Amino acid sequence: ETLESRTLEGIARYIKDGKAKKIVIMTGAGISTSAGIPDFRSPETGLYANLARFDLPHAESVFEISYFRNNPNPFYMLAQELDPSKFRPTITHSFIKLVHDKGLLLKLFTQNIDCLESRAGVPSDSIIEAHGSFATASCIECKSRYLPEKMLEVVRKGSVPQCEDDTCRGLVKPNIVFYGEPMPESFSQNKTLPADADLAIVMGTSLTVYPFASLPGFCGEGVPRLLINNEQVGSLGSRPDDVLLLEDCDSGVRKLAKALGWLEELETEWAK
Ligand code: OAD
Repeated sequence: ETLESRTLEGIARYIKDGKAKKIVIMTGAGISTSAGIPDFRSPETGLYANLARFDLPHAESVFEISYFRNNPNPFYMLAQELDPSKFRPTITHSFIKLVHDKGLLLKLFTQNIDCLESRAGVPSDSIIEAHGSFATASCIECKSRYLPEKMLEVVRKGSVPQCEDDTCRGLVKPNIVFYGEPMPESFSQNKTLPADADLAIVMGTSLTVYPFASLPGFCGEGVPRLLINNEQVGSLGSRPDDVLLLEDCDSGVRKLAKALGWLEELETEWAK
């Protein structure tokens, strides 16, 4: 059974046989690159390889809270480019929606801040946005809310969005988790949830940023873990029941959907 389940067909059979009723999905920037949003670490196209123009101490500084306090401009420039309203979900996002519609999604853990999972129709109570999102914004000092659309409007004009409380006037940023900031409570409270899953699917992440990268390790021994990614990452591949599909996410999920007999439904869902 172990050897047999080490293939995509084996995973599909496992799902079709009703053995996977609680699927945990873990995603990163690679599931949104085909939507036109760059990932972080791909050597030429990744965001971190293209930040030279900002003259940062190091690439990650753009997402460091201490750096932002002194110089928010590089982040704001990036924020305009990453404005989530400009992008449309990929077929990989629709695949997650389909898993949810089949009643099989235990939880989606995403590192992405682009809100494309929600746009694809995955309900918010099924999503853990581990690194926050662009959906809300607030003052970094007094934490009061600020409309995200308004923030982008101010940023587009080349100004710095500031807290509306005159006694505060702190900097406003979207509620994405910067380096140096705590993880959201929703993540901390649910991080061991993968232990309850009977199948894990990891897609489009380099699994380099902790604590998110520790999630697949919470899956029980003997629980199949499927990686759909351009490259092998983390400890995926170290267990006998790991299955590695080292290719583009969109073509990988199409293959899985085909093996499941879901392909037509998936294409219809994506075309909506
Ligand atoms: P990375 O850029 O680190 O990793 C993206 C992974 O997806 C890499 O392994 C790529 O090879 C792969 N990939 C890219 N496009 C793909 C495609 N179309 N099909 C299949 N694989 C593809 O992005 P994340 O792992 O999401 O955090 O990065 C994690 C965190 O680092 C981010 O949430 C962000 C960043 O710093 C913060 O800003 C706090």
